[in-house]
Amino acid sequence: MTKSGLDDVIATETRLSDVDGEAGRLIIVGLALEELAGRAGYEETASLLLRGLFNEPVNAHSMREQVGQARVEVFARMSRLDADLAFMPPVDAMRALIALLPDQGDLRCALTLMAAPAVFLPALLRMQKGLALIAPDERLSQSADILRMLTGAMPDESQVAALDAYLVTICDHGLNASTFAARVVASTQAGLTSAVVAAISALKGPLHGGAPGPVLDMLDSIEKPELARSWLSAALDRGDRLMGFGHRIYRVRDPRADALKAALGPLVASGRVNKERIALAESVERAALAILRERKPNRSLDVNVEFYTAVLLESLGFPRDAFTGVFAIGRTVGWIAHAREQAIDGRLIRPKSAYVGEMPAAA
Ligand code: ACO
Repeated sequence: MTKSGLDDVIATETRLSDVDGEAGRLIIVGLALEELAGRAGYEETASLLLRGLFNEPVNAHSMREQVGQARVEVFARMSRLDADLAFMPPVDAMRALIALLPDQGDLRCALTLMAAPAVFLPALLRMQKGLALIAPDERLSQSADILRMLTGAMPDESQVAALDAYLVTICDHGLNASTFAARVVASTQAGLTSAVVAAISALKGPLHGGAPGPVLDMLDSIEKPELARSWLSAALDRGDRLMGFGHRIYRVRDPRADALKAALGPLVASGRVNKERIALAESVERAALAILRERKPNRSLDVNVEFYTAVLLESLGFPRDAFTGVFAIGRTVGWIAHAREQAIDGRLIRPKSAYVGEMPAAA
């Protein structure tokens, strides 16, 4: 008997990250998430993930400059932007634009792919509103520049730190569906752009990276902390799943949820986040965990990464239909690292299937 979700199947070896679902522990390039998120920004984390995977050396000191230059180059290509893209869901429009990029396996292609979603998403969001596009500033960090290109104003330190913590927290996460999709494509020796396009397609589903928008819909609908329990009970009575809860691997709290909750701290201190929103989220979290324990006693369901992602990205001014796109900005470097690892070490991924259909009459 095959398990339909391939649970417990070890499909590859990787040096990039490890998810221990029983202990609630995430290791990325040899560092526990808490260590990494506390000490490295997006660019340093990217250089750790990519080192040794290209013929060219990956230099942590020049990564910020290289990604900055790549943003400028990507923006220069955008004169050919199709106005209809502004009417598509942002993640679909980003995928379409990424698919137009050169499809190779070198570091230059990797840098372009890391820069591309960071340039495309703010541009698409401004196009949606009929606003002029803002060119990248290569001297800024990726996080600072994303926020500047989105709003037109220079973000403050707390905002940059919060987005940076988010991008680091979600940069890689074992063999999740989108990363597996990237590795399958890379195993055919197709280029990095093909792998990233496949990955972003897998990411957009609500069971993977499409949940944080619905988390906010849920918070809006609940409205007040005292209404949380009855709202959540009614949702479960209807057979709905509570968005931001449950995970295929984690049987305890997703460590990324705490990393993101911590990342909200500086925003709270700088008054950049609505305290009532946080209080509502915390009440909903408490009520949901209690109800899920009562209703699903045999299944350990806890909060996942998407729950506090929703509150964090909302505080940074991203509209909810763009959340999956922001996830893609952070995860692209993980997809690239896995695709390179697969292309260098791996064989063509070609599992078997068990035929359960009709047999020809003669057989
Ligand atoms: N709310 C209510 N019940 C749930 C939830 C939830 N969020 N998650 C799982 N369950 C229940 C299922 O209904 C099922 O109950 P049953 O055995 O009585 O039928 C049981 O728990 C097991 O569910 P599975 O589908 O086997 O769990 P799976 O590992 O496939 O699901 C998933 C993981 C898809 C993340 C699920 O928990 C879910 O749908 N969560 C809500 C969506 C969400 O938050 N997605 C983001 C995930 S994080 C990420 O990918 C970046």
